[in-house]
Amino acid sequence: MEAQEIRKRFLEYFKNHGHTAVPSSSLIPDDPSVLLTTAGMQQFKPYYTGKADAIKDFGSLNTASVQKSFRTSDIEEVGDERHLTFFEMLGNFSFGGYFKKEAITFAHEFLTKEMGLEISYVTIFEGKDAIGVPKDEDSRAIWLGLGIPPEKIIEQGMDDVFWGPTGSGGPCGPTTEIYCTNGAGQDIEVWNIVFNEFLFAGSREELNSGSSGKKLEKLPVPGVDTGMGLERLVMVVQKTPTIFETDLFYSLLQLLPDNLDDVKRRVFADHARAMAFLIADGVRPSNKEAGYVLRRLMRRVMVFEKLHKIPPHILDTVIHEIIHMYGDFYVEIAHEANTIRSTIHEERDKFLKTLDRGISELLQLIEKKKQSGDLNPINEISGTDAFYLHQSYGLTEDVLEEILVLEGFAYNEAQFEEERKKHQEISRAGQEGKFGGHGLILDTGELKAGTEEEVKIVTRLHTATHLLQAALRKVLGDDVRQMGSDITPERTRFDFAFSRKVTPEELKSIEQIVNDAIKKDYTVERVEMPYAEADKLGALHFFKEKYPDMVNVYSIVHSKTGEVFSRELCGGPHVEHTGEIRGIHIVKEESSSAGVRRIRAKLE
Ligand code: SER
Repeated sequence: MEAQEIRKRFLEYFKNHGHTAVPSSSLIPDDPSVLLTTAGMQQFKPYYTGKADAIKDFGSLNTASVQKSFRTSDIEEVGDERHLTFFEMLGNFSFGGYFKKEAITFAHEFLTKEMGLEISYVTIFEGKDAIGVPKDEDSRAIWLGLGIPPEKIIEQGMDDVFWGPTGSGGPCGPTTEIYCTNGAGQDIEVWNIVFNEFLFAGSREELNSGSSGKKLEKLPVPGVDTGMGLERLVMVVQKTPTIFETDLFYSLLQLLPDNLDDVKRRVFADHARAMAFLIADGVRPSNKEAGYVLRRLMRRVMVFEKLHKIPPHILDTVIHEIIHMYGDFYVEIAHEANTIRSTIHEERDKFLKTLDRGISELLQLIEKKKQSGDLNPINEISGTDAFYLHQSYGLTEDVLEEILVLEGFAYNEAQFEEERKKHQEISRAGQEGKFGGHGLILDTGELKAGTEEEVKIVTRLHTATHLLQAALRKVLGDDVRQMGSDITPERTRFDFAFSRKVTPEELKSIEQIVNDAIKKDYTVERVEMPYAEADKLGALHFFKEKYPDMVNVYSIVHSKTGEVFSRELCGGPHVEHTGEIRGIHIVKEESSSAGVRRIRAKLE
C-alpha cells in the first residue's frame, strides 16, 4: 500500500467515524511562543481549553488531520535510521466528543483492520503521585477488552507516556502508545494517543521540575489528541527496515549520486523535503528564527554539493520530484514551486561566494606553508588558522578536512577544539554566561535563544520590555528614549537616555505599573502600515535607525476599553496577551554611559 493511499484511508476512516477532516495548518504556527509546528494538536489548542467552539468551526467535536510538522530538536540526529526534521503527522482529535474507549478502539481497528497490521505491544502510564495523576487502569482494561494480552501492556513513566504541554502552557495528559514491527524485525512506536485531561499553565520543564508552584488543573471536558508519524506507519505497513526504503523516500534517494554515503543521502533527502515545505509556508533563509533553521538545512546540503562535486541540477531534480510527490495533497507546494526553486538558487549563490573565499584562503595558507619549507612532519596547519576559517567563512570541519586531505595536509584538531572552547568562553563572558555563539535558533540582534523553550521565555521578556518602556515614560516623563536593549532567557536589559539615577521609589512604581499591565491581560496587536502612518500614531522607535516604507507596529491595548498602553515599531516576536508574561521584577538600575541608564529585569 502506497503512502498516498494510507493518508487517504486514514482521513476516510475517521470521516466515516464522525470526524471532520481539517487541512494541515502552516508550519509557522499562530502561537508566537512556538517556533515551528511540531504536532497536529497545535492548531486545535483553543478547542481543548474551551476558548474556541469546535461545533461552530468544524460542525463536530471530532476532527482528523494530516499535519505538516517539523522538529528542530532532531536536526543533529538526521542521517540515522529514523530521525527526520520535516514529517507528516496523522492525527484524530476530540474536544469532548469521546474519550479513552473510543480513541483506543478506533486506533486498534484502523491498524489491525484497515492497515492489516499486528500490534506488538502497547504502553500505558504508570502514574505519578507527585503531580497527582494515578495509573491509567482505564486504558489497560480497554486494551485487555480488545484482546491485547496482559504481558503486552507495558507500564511506563513521565518521560515516555505523558504528553505536553507545548509552548508556554496548555493541555496535557497521560498517553498510551502502540508499537508495530518493521521490516527489520524492530518494534517501532507508531501511534501516540494522548488523553488531555489536564491543563498546565507553564512549560513542560516547569511541570517536570515540580518547583514552579503551579498545579495541574483538571480540564472541564477531557479531550483526545493522537499523533502517528506517517513515515513510520508507512515503514511498518510496507515492511521496510527503515523509513528510507519506503515509497516516501525511495524515489528521492535514487536521484542522488553514488559517491554520497548513506548518511549524507538521508540528510540530503530529508533537508530537501524540509526546505520545500518551509519555503512554501513563507519561510526565507535568514539569521533568525525559522529562517535560521532553513538556512542551516540549505547550507548543509550546499556543503555536500561542494565537497562531493554534486552539480546543482541534482537538488533541482530532487525538489522537482518532491513537488510532484506532494503537490496534489499540499497545494501550496505546487503553487510555490517557482519560489522554492528561486529561493534555493539565491541562497546557493550567496553561500558559495563566502565558501569559495574561505576555500581560497585555505589554499593560500597551504601554499605558503609549502613554500616556506616550514613543514612539521605531518603537514599540519594550526588549529587556530583552521578555526579562523571556520568562524569567518563557514568552512565546516568536513570541508576543512576534505580539502586538506586532497593537498596531503591535516589540521591540528585538538587546537581547533581549544580555540572553539576559548571562543565560546569569550562570547559567553560577553553575554553573561549564556551563549557560546553557537546553536542560536533565535537571534534578532535584540533577542537571543538557543532552544525553543528559551524562545518562549525571551518572547515573554520582549513584550515585558515594551511594557517597561511605557512604564518608564509614565513615571519619568516622555523624554525617556530607548538607546538599546538586549534580551536573553535570563533577563532583559534596557538602556535609555535619562540624566540622573532612578530612585528606588520610582523603580518600585515602574515595576508595579508593568505588573498591573500584565494582570490586566492587554492584547498585543501587530499591524503592518506605512512608516509615515506609524509615526503619526506616535509609535516609539529608535531615531537612529532607517526604516523601510512598510513597518510593523505592535500595540498593547485593552480589549474592552481600547486604551493603548504601549505602541512601538518592532519586528517581534511577542506574546498575544500580556497575561502570558505572568510578572516581572526589576533587579538593577545603573549608569551605562554618560546620560544613559541601564535597567535589568527578570521574569517572576
Ligand atoms: N501531541 C502528541 C504528539 O505529538 C499526539 O499528537 O505525539
